Amino acid sequence: MSLLRLSLSASLTLAALLAVACEEGGSASGPGGSGAGGGAATTGQGGAGGATPVVPTAEQWAALVTLRWDDEGPPEDVTNAWADSPAAAAFGQRLFFDGRLSGPLLDGDNDGTVGTLGVKGEPGKVACSGCHLPESWFSDTRSNGQQISLAAGWVLRRTIPLLDVGHKKLLNWDGRRDTFFGQAIGVFEAAKEMNSSRYFVARAVHEHHRAEYEALFGPLPPLDDTQRFPALAAEETGCPEPDLPAADCEGMPGDEGVFDALAPADQEAVTRVAVNAAKAIEAYLRLLRCGEGRFDAWLDGDDAALSDAEKRGAIAFVGRGKCADCHVGPRLTDDGFHNVGLMPKTVAVVFLDKDDPGASVGLAAALNDPLSSRGIYSDGDDDRLPASVDPALLGAFATPSLRCISKRPSFFHTGQEKDLREVVAFFDRGGHPAGFLGESEIEPLDLTEQEIDDLVAFLLSLDGAGPDAALLAPPP
Ligand code: HEC
Ligand code: HEC
Repeated sequence: MSLLRLSLSASLTLAALLAVACEEGGSASGPGGSGAGGGAATTGQGGAGGATPVVPTAEQWAALVTLRWDDEGPPEDVTNAWADSPAAAAFGQRLFFDGRLSGPLLDGDNDGTVGTLGVKGEPGKVACSGCHLPESWFSDTRSNGQQISLAAGWVLRRTIPLLDVGHKKLLNWDGRRDTFFGQAIGVFEAAKEMNSSRYFVARAVHEHHRAEYEALFGPLPPLDDTQRFPALAAEETGCPEPDLPAADCEGMPGDEGVFDALAPADQEAVTRVAVNAAKAIEAYLRLLRCGEGRFDAWLDGDDAALSDAEKRGAIAFVGRGKCADCHVGPRLTDDGFHNVGLMPKTVAVVFLDKDDPGASVGLAAALNDPLSSRGIYSDGDDDRLPASVDPALLGAFATPSLRCISKRPSFFHTGQEKDLREVVAFFDRGGHPAGFLGESEIEPLDLTEQEIDDLVAFLLSLDGAGPDAALLAPPP
C-alpha cells in the first residue's frame, strides 16, 4: 500500500513514463529507487482525511533524496590511526565520563546546586559528559538557562551536540580546531572548561588507566618517577582564574612551571600521552550516530511515515525556504561557515557575546595550532585546512547538522533561541537588520505562517533512534 501512495510523488510526466515499471521499480528502496516510482492511476488515494495529497515534483523529490540518512560510518580520519579501533573506542568511552582528568572549578556560580558540577575550588568534577550529556544526545541540558554551559567557568558559546561529529573535519562553531585530539586537549587546558592540563591528564592516565592505555599505545613514560616528572595536585593544575596567560597556569606549554621545566623530549612524551588519550576519545565519538528518522522512511517509500505538514515542510526546506542552500546532504549541513545575520542576545541572564568574529578568527587559530592536522602529533594530513582565511568569514559560524535536533535545549551558537519556530521565523525575516559583525548571506523569504509551522514539523521528523544505550554510559 505504501508503495502505491508513494508513487504519487513523481511529476505527472515522469509518472506516465514510468507507470508500467512502478510496481517493481517502486520496491527498490533508497534514494535512487523510490523517487521515480510513478503511478498516475492512484490519484486521490494518498492524502489523509481526503485532503489533497502532498506530492513533491520530480525536481523537489530529486533534491529531497540527497538529504537521505547515510548508514555508512564516518569517513576515514587520517589524523588518527586509532580512529576506528574498537579497543580505543572502549577506552575513549571510559575517559569521556571521567571527571578525574579535570582541575578545580573556578566560577563562584559553582555552588553545588542542580545545574552546577560542584562547588568552586573542587577539582575532579568536569568530565566531557558534564556538558555533552549522553541522555540529551550530547548537548547540555544541565547548565542553568540551558543556553551556554557552566563547567569550571561559563563558556560563551553553546555546547554542540556530538551525534555524527565524526563526519566533521573543522570543529567548533568557528572552525578553531581541525583534529579531535587538538579539540580535547583544548578542553583539558581551557580554564572555563576542564581547567586542567596535558601534564595533569597524562599523570591521571598513568594513575587510573595505565593497563588500558598501555595495551593500546605501548609503555607510558615513567610518570611515577617524581625526580623526572614532579607531582602535580589536582587543586594546582589549570589556572587560578579564567583569562590568564599560560604563565599563570600549571601543567601546559608556557606555564613557566612544571611543564616548561621538563626536558624537551619529556614535554613531547607528556603531550603524546594526552594526544593518545584524546585519539581514543575520538574513536568513541565516531560511534555516536543519530540514525535514520521518519523522514528517511518516507523517502524509502513509506508514505504514512510523515504527516502532510511534515511533507510540506520537507518540500519548503528544499524549495521556498532555501534552507538547502546550506543545509545539504545526509546530515543537512554543508560543513561550511556562513554569516546568517544573527544579533547576539543576552543569555544565561548576564552574558552578551556581542562581537564574536566567528570563523575568520577561528580558522586563523587552527592554521597556527601545533595540534592541527599539519603538526607532529597528527598521523596524516589531508589538506583539511584552507591555505588562508577568507576575510568574508567575519561573523560566520558553522552550519549545524539538523539531525536529531529535538533534544537541543536551545539554538544558535549563542543558545539565544529556545523555540525552534523562532529559529525558522528568524530565517524567514532574513536575519536581524543589524547588530552583528560582517555581512549576512541571507534575505527575507516571505513564508506564510503555515510554511513556518511546516518547516518546524519537518525538522522534528529528522530524529533517529540515537546511539545504542551501551554508548550512553561509561563501559562496565
Ligand atoms: C563547558 C562544557 C564542555 C565540556 C566539559 C566539554 N565540551 Fe565539548 N564543546 C563545548 C562547547 C561550548 C563547544 C563549542 C565550542 C565553540 O564552538 O567555541 C564544544 C565543542 C566540542 C566539539 C566540536 C563539535 C563540533 O561539531 O564541531 C567536540 C568534538 C567536543 N566538544 C568534544 C569534547 C570532549 C572530547 C570533551 C572532554 C575532553 C568535551 N568536549 C568537554 C562544551 C564542552
Ligand atoms: C546561508 C546558509 C544558511 C541557510 C540558507 C539556512 N541556514 Fe540554518 N543555519 C546556518 C548557520 C550558519 C547556522 C548557525 C548560525 C549561528 O548559530 O550563528 C544555522 C542554524 C540553524 C538552526 C539552529 C540549529 C542549532 O543547533 O543551533 C536551524 C534549526 C536552522 N539553521 C534551520 C534552517 C532552516 C529551516 C532554514 C531555511 C528556512 C535555514 N536554516 C537556512 C546556515 C544556513
